[in-house]
Amino acid sequence: MRARLVALAMFVLAGGSGAMADEAKRGEALFQSCRSCHSLDPGRPGMAGPPLDGLAGRLLGSAWGFDYSPGFRQARAQGLRWDAERLEAYLADPDSIVPGGWMSPPGGLSDADRAAMAVFLLER
Ligand code: HEC
Repeated sequence: MRARLVALAMFVLAGGSGAMADEAKRGEALFQSCRSCHSLDPGRPGMAGPPLDGLAGRLLGSAWGFDYSPGFRQARAQGLRWDAERLEAYLADPDSIVPGGWMSPPGGLSDADRAAMAVFLLER
């Protein structure tokens, strides 16, 4: 009985992490639509948007050398940090997180797409 429970737990764990890996993969594919403005390489400034490396727990508006809108500068001063909930809300409606910011809402994404993108951006 105990052995079966352990086997079941291992199955669930393996399935769970596999599903997360799939989400991250899907998020990475979706991220192609962001690459025209965002790099994942902090050593590559000079794009229209800030680099998005290491976003988990990062202060809003804190990529080095990027000239953010006043809304982002204020969010940073307030100590707001990126997590999945905030990122998904920002991608659905940027103004809901940073009023008057410069990024347009990315079109054509479902809730599931935004969730997958958050997994990809926050876990890498
Ligand atoms: C046309 C250019 C453009 C595209 C395409 C774009 N963004 Fe942005 N993004 C920006 C700009 C500009 C900012 C800075 C906004 C500001 O200062 O108000 C920004 C800011 C961000 C931030 C805040 C970063 C920080 O340092 O706090 C995140 C997160 C983000 N974008 C994610 C995305 C994702 C994910 C996509 C793809 C679905 C995307 N963006 C597509 C231009 C773009």
